[in-house]
Amino acid sequence: MGVKNININLIVEGYSPRQNYKGKEELKGSIEKEGLLEPLLVRKDGNVYVIIAGNRRFRVVKELGWKAVECIIEDADEKAAAHLSYLTNSEDLRNNLNPIEVALHLKEMREKFGYSVQDLLDLGYAKDDQTIYNKLNLLKLPEDVQEKIAEGTITPTEGYRIAAVKDSDLQAKVIDTISGLKRRSVRKTERIIKNLIDSVNYGKEAPDQPPQVPEGDIPGVFFHDSSHMREFEDETIPLIIVSPNYGVGLEYEKEVSFKDHKKDLEKYVPEWGRKLMPGGYLCINFGDIHNFGTKQETEPEIQVMGQFFQELLRPLSIRLRDIKIWDKGMTFVNNRQVSFNDDTKHTSYRSLHNFEYIYILKKDGKREVPYDLELKSRISEQEWKEWVTGIWRIDPVRRQKDHPAQFPEELPRRLIKMYSYEGDIVVDTALGSGTTIKVALELGRRGYGYERDTRYKPVIMKKLGIKEEDLKKPEVEEDRGTPHTINEFAKTIGDMLAENNKTPKDIVSVRVPLKSVLSRDEIEIDWLNDDEEPDPSGPTGTSELLRADDYENEMTSQEVS
Ligand SMILES: C[S@@+](CC[C@H](N)C(=O)[O-])C[C@H]1O[C@@H](n2cnc3c(N)ncnc32)[C@H](O)[C@@H]1O
Repeated sequence: MGVKNININLIVEGYSPRQNYKGKEELKGSIEKEGLLEPLLVRKDGNVYVIIAGNRRFRVVKELGWKAVECIIEDADEKAAAHLSYLTNSEDLRNNLNPIEVALHLKEMREKFGYSVQDLLDLGYAKDDQTIYNKLNLLKLPEDVQEKIAEGTITPTEGYRIAAVKDSDLQAKVIDTISGLKRRSVRKTERIIKNLIDSVNYGKEAPDQPPQVPEGDIPGVFFHDSSHMREFEDETIPLIIVSPNYGVGLEYEKEVSFKDHKKDLEKYVPEWGRKLMPGGYLCINFGDIHNFGTKQETEPEIQVMGQFFQELLRPLSIRLRDIKIWDKGMTFVNNRQVSFNDDTKHTSYRSLHNFEYIYILKKDGKREVPYDLELKSRISEQEWKEWVTGIWRIDPVRRQKDHPAQFPEELPRRLIKMYSYEGDIVVDTALGSGTTIKVALELGRRGYGYERDTRYKPVIMKKLGIKEEDLKKPEVEEDRGTPHTINEFAKTIGDMLAENNKTPKDIVSVRVPLKSVLSRDEIEIDWLNDDEEPDPSGPTGTSELLRADDYENEMTSQEVS
């Protein structure tokens, strides 16, 4: 095997695994200046010499008009030369074969030059046959993906995983998803693929029956107490956002004692917890009760409220995960108790109660969420930076015309974006003016709400842009139930008492939708539990106990959310 000067007309290009001949001009310059540093590698085939390694250099010297070129003649047939060509190209460390060139070479080795997979393993192309097949499978990927692998924006190992996805739509989704990621790794790609495959199955199984409202009602709004959320199965709601009553004597909670308020919480808070799905979030916005006790002329005291929520929800495996302080701003309020003047008594300074809490509670368990939905729903890095802080500075709603305690839209907006996925059901269990539903719909979620005070129906309609003609129409005539006259109604209640072994004294409340046509199922009775004594003051009886004092009233009428 010596070096020989061979007439250029006797040389022909041969097989090469290299597809991409880059840097020809650069090579030309260097050969012109320094000559050919390395002879061509050729094999003799009849009267001609076929190049094993050096096609690119051969083209250059031909262009430069050389008559002959130095060659090393290798004693190899076409089959052996193909492998040799691969070896010499692989040795070119500055200009490595890319993974697609390697895959194409393996394909040629098998199909054109007759190598078996075992031959390829023996020649050291891979450690095992699976790797050979993985490499070959890259060639089944769409061309644009092969290009990305060739240029290195998708790694070959990622390529193997993608190629293993048989469904072409899913494959396209995987490629789309991983191409959009800033930081990637093979493990991440594997996880994405697994999650996307799961998501295909998830999509098929997802239950999608929206709860129905009675006729004449606003779609998505249930006008009754959320202590009975019969429209939802247990453990089905992914996100509940609620600002429950404050117990400070606002228009919808007048004449309610603190004892009643607590009893009320005990009735509905656990129901919210039961409806929450494992892994779901319950976000509660509330304030402490300031000046607690002053109605009894005791010293003013703050009644902390957070513990009630935590204690009612912990038995349902719902745990307090985060606390946000909603800073309402309000740097100055014209209120005698926080103003500074000559009468201000030293050590008795009072602070402006310009904040509330947002408790973020999560039910134990994990939600199975398709990965593409996860990606679609994620908040941006900028939003994360703004919202990760424990204090949320958000202006309250200033002129609370229609409802005295609306929270600003920004509050549910952040919570919905952070704790739900696109298309999720979001429920407000003390809806008020309908803010949560409005924002939920704007964010591509399905918004629902409970409001027990029907006087807010027009307010909710206004906020949601709902007109009379949009209200729920009767769907199927046959399902409308039996008309109830007062006598029939009394008889139905009598029947229900008898069936439950109760007397009228055991009734705490009866809830009946306001409509002329009623079915028995729609009549809801709350009984006193067997071990409970009837409250002498009755369910809405006035009590002298513990209401917020004037200061609080003044504050709330101006500024409560
Ligand atoms: C603090 S406000 C909520 C205001 C609401 N976040 C908004 O932006 O308009 C509480 C509202 O929930 C209603 N409510 C309180 N407890 C309820 C319950 N258990 N079920 C249904 N409605 C309730 C009250 O009538 C009141 O309108």
